[in-house]
Amino acid sequence: MVIAIDGPAGAGKSTVARGVAERLGFTYLDSGAMYRAAALAAMGRGDRSVAEVADELDIQLGERVLVNGTDVTAALRSPTVSEAASKIATDQAVRQALVRKQKALLENGDWVAEGRDIGTVVKPDAELKIFLTASPEERARRRAAELGSDWRTVLKDQAIRDQTDSEREHSPLRAAPDSIELDSTGRPAEDVITQIVSLVRKVANAR
Ligand code: CDP
Repeated sequence: MVIAIDGPAGAGKSTVARGVAERLGFTYLDSGAMYRAAALAAMGRGDRSVAEVADELDIQLGERVLVNGTDVTAALRSPTVSEAASKIATDQAVRQALVRKQKALLENGDWVAEGRDIGTVVKPDAELKIFLTASPEERARRRAAELGSDWRTVLKDQAIRDQTDSEREHSPLRAAPDSIELDSTGRPAEDVITQIVSLVRKVANAR
């Protein structure tokens, strides 16, 4: 069974997806970490296209993210890598390489997968699709608290990234027509996790 959780930056996808996976004993897939890892790996590799780097990416996802055996967990969250990830995610060849890896992973087992296009492109037949949102201000405050930076600066960067993500030609950020939209503004993550877990139970019982 696959639960897809898509939505913009800072909507709470990672916390919620991790929490749902933990409660249900499912495996968590952070597709954004793949775009971030590809962006990081491509830096300083002017000799190769980003798509080639993405295609050959040796990435291990988990508590720590390893790329070619090196722990890059902290580096992946830097603003530079965030911006670079958003840029390379507009490249169709890069997307194809990473979506192929994601599809292969989701083929077997029980997953909670988060990203921008899980419900629309990676796993259109996911058993449950959630589109998680929150107000831009709340999203920026959450991200600023994580990074220890000023939320107004984060808000500006976020607006640029939101625009790139939703206006790009290939797989723009969109709610799948059959997704359930949840607004996490002002709601503790635990609340949203509990709501999704009960939606999963309903879907599982109906099968
Ligand atoms: O955590 P946050 O939402 O800020 O970002 P992320 O999920 O780690 O994704 C980083 C970037 O990768 C995003 O800005 C998207 O442009 C891109 N991405 C994507 O295009 N498709 C996905 N399935 C996941 C991420």
